Amino acid sequence: MDPQPASSPTGFYEWNPNEDDVLICRAVREETPDVKTFVFAPRKGRHFTYQPGQFLTFEFEISGETIYRCYTISSTPTRPDTVSITVKRVAGGPVSNWLHDQFRPGMMLRATGPMGDFSWTVKPTQPKYLLISGGSGITPMMSMTRSAFDLAEIRDTLFVHAARSPADLIFRDELDFMARRNRSIRVGYICEGDSPHEAWSGLRGRLTHGALTALAPDFMDRVVFVCGPAPFMAAVHAVLAAAGFDMSRYFQESFRFEDLSPAEQEAVEEAADELSTDITTYRIEFAKTRRVVDCPENITILDAARRAGIRLPSSCTKGLCGTCKSRKVSGDVEMSHQGGIRQREVDQGMILICCSRPRSDVVIDR
Ligand SMILES: Cc1cc2nc3c(=O)[nH]c(=O)nc-3n(C[C@H](O)[C@H](O)[C@H](O)COP(=O)(O)OP(=O)(O)OC[C@H]3O[C@@H](n4cnc5c(N)ncnc54)[C@H](O)[C@@H]3O)c2cc1C
Ligand code: FES
Repeated sequence: MDPQPASSPTGFYEWNPNEDDVLICRAVREETPDVKTFVFAPRKGRHFTYQPGQFLTFEFEISGETIYRCYTISSTPTRPDTVSITVKRVAGGPVSNWLHDQFRPGMMLRATGPMGDFSWTVKPTQPKYLLISGGSGITPMMSMTRSAFDLAEIRDTLFVHAARSPADLIFRDELDFMARRNRSIRVGYICEGDSPHEAWSGLRGRLTHGALTALAPDFMDRVVFVCGPAPFMAAVHAVLAAAGFDMSRYFQESFRFEDLSPAEQEAVEEAADELSTDITTYRIEFAKTRRVVDCPENITILDAARRAGIRLPSSCTKGLCGTCKSRKVSGDVEMSHQGGIRQREVDQGMILICCSRPRSDVVIDR
């Protein structure tokens, strides 16, 4: 028999990430030519509780491989019966293309979470917000704005979205609707060019200082949340830094954590350089690919693999997202995760290699 789920104050049972993990697709919606929204309901009646801006990690079985990917919940916690994700097709990407081409209502996926802290509810409360998104980076901003709209919050929100063309503006109708009905929400767009069926009459080009000033004249007074492709976020960061913006009020979310920040990279190098006679090095074998790396006990298995030039799936590198989850065939590790794995998975021999340091020779099923 299933364990009794947690009951919420409303009398509904809440989605409990430790026990619930199966989601059924209820609907697939086309947003733009290369973006679709997938709406999910839990297999059993549950209400989802999460902060707007958080993400789920999904498990996919594609061509005999288990692949993990994170997707921000684009729907709002104020509508707790379903969760939606909004996915952009990435050229050559196994999961986004599978979702777009193969995934249909009625099909099921396993998911872990919600996780993450990219939300205005968990950052210091401020009177004025500026949400800046590029492409599919709109999803956390959309969840926050939808939630403010549903709750009729008087939260001064300026939403700036950048796209290639007007046809690529995700959620444009809904954003315009919310801005019309709630005076504390304002929306501005910038497009690089026209689409085949619509000439763009709004602001054109990239989000330079001039464009930002035109869309958000008071940007210096706001708390800024940014999400989008890495070059987009770097450009926004540079514009704000050059303007003397107080970066303690700047928050960004990356959809690709693969590249370590310079500080993190330095920390890995330093840890590895600390090789002395006191530090034991263990042998890590990746069973499927028959590759072997040496891993000092003070660095993670993921870092040791990277240093040896082996690319393994990973995202957050912090034990949070679950992307690097792998089966440990043998050996001991010390794992310090932040919620990216459930106890029952640990009991079944799964580990997160981004936050596991070897305590013996280890064999991994990868
Ligand atoms: C916390 C978090 C939240 C995320 N939320 C969303 C979301 O709401 N919507 C969404 O569409 N995606 C989101 N992603 C990205 C998502 O997890 C996948 O990386 C993406 O769907 C591509 O997966 P894939 O398997 O098709 O391609 P991958 O195998 O991941 O990538 C294929 C190739 O494309 C590159 N690539 C991957 N992602 C991008 C990108 N966004 N832009 C340009 N190149 C890329 C990779 O480096 C690789 O070369 C999120 C990622 C994280 C870490
Ligand atoms: S990469 Fe996110 S948990 Fe390991």
